[in-house]
Amino acid sequence: PGSMLQTERLTADEAGLAQAAAVLRRGGLVAFPTETVYGLGADATDATAVARIYAAKERPSFNPLIAHVDSVEAARIQGIFDETAQRLADAFWPGPLTLVVPAAPTCTVSDLARAGLDSLGLRVPAHPLAHELLKLTGRPVAAPSANRSGRVSPTDADHVLGDLDGRIEAVLDGGAAQVGVESTIVACLGGAPRLLRPGGVPREAIEALIGMRLEGGSEGGKSPLAPGMLASHYAPRARVRLNATSVQAGEAVLLFGSGVLHGAEAAQASLNLSKNGSLVEAAAHLFSYLRQLDASGAPTIAVGPIPETGLGEAINDRLRRAAAER
Ligand code: TXA
Ligand code: MG
Repeated sequence: PGSMLQTERLTADEAGLAQAAAVLRRGGLVAFPTETVYGLGADATDATAVARIYAAKERPSFNPLIAHVDSVEAARIQGIFDETAQRLADAFWPGPLTLVVPAAPTCTVSDLARAGLDSLGLRVPAHPLAHELLKLTGRPVAAPSANRSGRVSPTDADHVLGDLDGRIEAVLDGGAAQVGVESTIVACLGGAPRLLRPGGVPREAIEALIGMRLEGGSEGGKSPLAPGMLASHYAPRARVRLNATSVQAGEAVLLFGSGVLHGAEAAQASLNLSKNGSLVEAAAHLFSYLRQLDASGAPTIAVGPIPETGLGEAINDRLRRAAAER
């Protein structure tokens, strides 16, 4: 939609960072690396710039976006932190955690970025390039994952360009994202904190810190998920078949650990998220492997079982969404 832009690939150095910040400050769109996935950034205080995010992504609705800031202090200008939120921020920021908190009277994040809500999602990313960019920009930066709506989240600059070339001003190329699944989202809106989305910080680590079970997550289904957590949100083009024990000819295969699937020799393509069974490594590979298997042209991706512990909860959540009927 709109006129084609010349999307610039900016290098991960001082000049590239300065240019990226300048583009953001004049209302442009810049995709940038975080430790989870690449974000599609716009000045969160500028509703017109934020509107361009939805246009570039072809998002069907105005979901609230995460506002990224460079420090806990900057976050406290935007949101109201209760005791739990403060403890979580102190423990996990900078890092792959998003806190949904009530908007503060001093909040400058535009209504559009908040989708008209009285709350907002805040995150202090740990990636050094993201941190530098936010510091240079000097404003909160709204950033959903830098993919077109309904596609898999991007974990490197080539993924971003594959989806958004010609639709955004620039991508800051910082190589591969390390965590590979999005941030964990916890809502602290009074009462017990709630898990809105499993992600890069395992549920267990949060529960250990706050000394109680977190309500919510993907398993129950009764608790409302974060708006925008549509089942189809993480969908590759191929069908996805979970907990496969065998492979049919022509299918693509996604394995984990030492598990072997019956008939895997006949697969169209086969990748292992982590041969030695590391969930951290598996998360880092998840989205790029889904893309690669999708590109093999196989009609179905058969996925072997993956444990539900630690980062496995987020990995399985994304895979269940990718597998949902659509
Ligand atoms: O790792 C990540 O979180 C990446 C990087 C770029 O930071 N971002 C990301 O953004 O995954 P996105 O837009 O794909 O997902 C943000 C989620 C959405 O499901 C949205 O509905 C939820 O955060 N969210 C944001 N603000 C919220 C609010 N005030 N209340 C409830 N959910 C909110
Ligand atoms: Mg996304």
